[in-house]
Amino acid sequence: MPSLQNKIALVTGAAVGFGQAFAQRFAQDGAHVVLVDIKPCDETAKMVEAAGREAMPVICDITSEEAVGYLAMEVDRRFGCCDILVNNAGIYPIQPFDQITFADWRRVMALNLDAVFLTAKAFMPGMKRRGWGRVINISSSTFNVVASGYTHYIASKGGVVGLTRALATEFGNDGVTVNAVAPSLTRTPGTEGRQPRAGRESMDEEFLALANLQAIKRVQVPSDLAGVVSFLASDDAAFMTGQTIYVDGGMVRV
Ligand SMILES: NC(=O)c1ccc[n+]([C@@H]2O[C@H](COP(=O)([O-])OP(=O)(O)OC[C@H]3O[C@@H](n4cnc5c(N)ncnc54)[C@H](O)[C@@H]3O)[C@@H](O)[C@H]2O)c1
Repeated sequence: MPSLQNKIALVTGAAVGFGQAFAQRFAQDGAHVVLVDIKPCDETAKMVEAAGREAMPVICDITSEEAVGYLAMEVDRRFGCCDILVNNAGIYPIQPFDQITFADWRRVMALNLDAVFLTAKAFMPGMKRRGWGRVINISSSTFNVVASGYTHYIASKGGVVGLTRALATEFGNDGVTVNAVAPSLTRTPGTEGRQPRAGRESMDEEFLALANLQAIKRVQVPSDLAGVVSFLASDDAAFMTGQTIYVDGGMVRV
């Protein structure tokens, strides 16, 4: 039997990139998937359906408490529960500290950290009632390496690690595990579409420079993370909680 047979998984930021890869893998492993994004998730929905599972695409800005409340109602109406919650949607603007305004700071925190709190509030009580649940939060290896121009981002992703540990402790006896996964620079629409750092000609050059700091010297792709996330969502990972798993090709640590 597939490891996630008939589970209901919800993935934020599911239109592209990591979120799309997680949704596809969950469906291949037997789960029905709620696809949450501010953009249409048609392509991801097709992937889920091609694996023979149900897709529920929802346009939702997860930084809004009201919108997340509505999302929870819709999921409850359609599936009756959410077993697996993946907090994946995030932004990563590069800005030197002296250029970050408080509005920039708040924008990053609102999506990368506040939204994780909002979805946890919306979906974890149901998991606790049913005595089974999995929460997987996407952090970043930047929390653990030297990376300039990312003050707000690193603070938000460090917050995700802290929130993961705190929630794991509160829900430890309820059959609900909470873990984080931290990738390094990965080819996604979000990273491919941005400007390379000063001194680099292209994003390709930047991807390769970062890959050279890894033990495995190739550029990470979203599917590198999907199996790990699916494992954390499975019964096999029932005794693992509060952890941050670095899936970064063995990035050199400092
Ligand atoms: N790509 C990398 O190199 C990398 C490395 C480390 C960590 N991460 C983390 O992985 C996660 C996904 O990254 P990605 O590269 O796949 O991103 P991406 O930019 O390719 O995709 C992010 C998705 O989130 C959606 N989104 C944005 N704001 C939203 C909102 N308010 N509500 C709902 N959805 C929203 C976007 O529409 C988009 O579809 C992020 O949390 C990111 O910080 C990425």
